[in-house]
Amino acid sequence: MIRSRVIGTGSYVPKKVLTNHDLERFVETSDEWISTRTGIRERRIAVDDTPSDMAAKAAKAALKAAGISPKDIDLIVVGTVTPDMTFPSTACFVQGHLGVKSGAAAFDVSAACSGFLYALDIADKYVKSGVAQKALVIGVDQFSRLIDWKDRATCVLFGDGAGAVVLSAEKGQRGVLSCHIHSDGKHWEMLYSESPCPPSPFEERKATNQYLKMNGNETFKIAVRTMGNAITEALEANNIKPEDVALLVPHQANLRIIDATRQRLGLPEEKVYTNLERFGNTSAGSIPLALDEAVRLGKVKENDIVLFVSFGGGLTWASAAVRW
Ligand SMILES: CC(C)(COP(=O)(O)OP(=O)(O)OC[C@H]1O[C@@H](n2cnc3c(N)ncnc32)[C@H](O)[C@@H]1OP(=O)(O)O)[C@@H](O)C(=O)NCCC(=O)NCCS
Repeated sequence: MIRSRVIGTGSYVPKKVLTNHDLERFVETSDEWISTRTGIRERRIAVDDTPSDMAAKAAKAALKAAGISPKDIDLIVVGTVTPDMTFPSTACFVQGHLGVKSGAAAFDVSAACSGFLYALDIADKYVKSGVAQKALVIGVDQFSRLIDWKDRATCVLFGDGAGAVVLSAEKGQRGVLSCHIHSDGKHWEMLYSESPCPPSPFEERKATNQYLKMNGNETFKIAVRTMGNAITEALEANNIKPEDVALLVPHQANLRIIDATRQRLGLPEEKVYTNLERFGNTSAGSIPLALDEAVRLGKVKENDIVLFVSFGGGLTWASAAVRW
């Protein structure tokens, strides 16, 4: 059986660090409030990098880890809701930046914080069906462009970043075991941004509808319920038990959401990878960014079962199981 094996991971975050203490200067908040309610201590802000720059840098690192050339890639799928431009797609920009061969397929997927798992689901189906041999799957977002830096309820939560994986068509048991993607459009008002992205972070908007809006409390409750259900779906589909999972890499929105999900599964803390303390919620970038760190720290071994779970605007939610 042909599976999509993950043969390389990569990530990129911009250099500029914005700490909770820095935010105390913009809005009435405190490091204590932000870190106890969310687990976040600092985040990165893209000042010189566009989303496609971040995506290309993450992809370059993933290609290097995989030991293959951009010329080997025949599909690029990018999960993002903050593209450089309305069109062309971020994926086409990445193709150009990396020198991926002309004629490869490249497109974006819009699923907010679930963007990476949606992109993984699609790319996996292309690879498994034999349409693509090597695919780049990228998650990237630059929410600093969407945020109202005067709104303490949202500006403390998000950061900018990107992550990528390379999938390769291979025979055997290793690779993507399952992906499940879902949405419920009737809850769109929980988390949304009405207008296209303005060009740079911290820029004053002309109209307030250009800012990201969120119902934090309701989003929190739905996230806890939905992420738990999504993991159960992945476990049942693969006939595996929580104790068979080597590592859970969840969407990095809030440590309390992640902890509630972990406790529902009965997983010990060391089986859940988090890095939101340093990067905040990077939306579609969050899962591949955390995965890349976990891989580089040696937390994922050959044949380990790794689970992913996401939740985001749409509402969207998704899970994936991979045998490493
Ligand atoms: C946003 C979130 C951290 C707020 O935490 P919470 O415990 O629900 O806090 P509340 O919204 O109930 O606010 C409690 C109080 O803190 C205040 N507050 C909100 N943001 C604050 C901040 N940054 N600093 C200090 N106080 C803040 C509120 O105004 C409120 O004050 P009040 O009691 O005087 O009215 C939490 O709801 C959350 O994480 N939701 C999910 C968001 C998310 O993950 N979105 C992305 C999904 S992909």
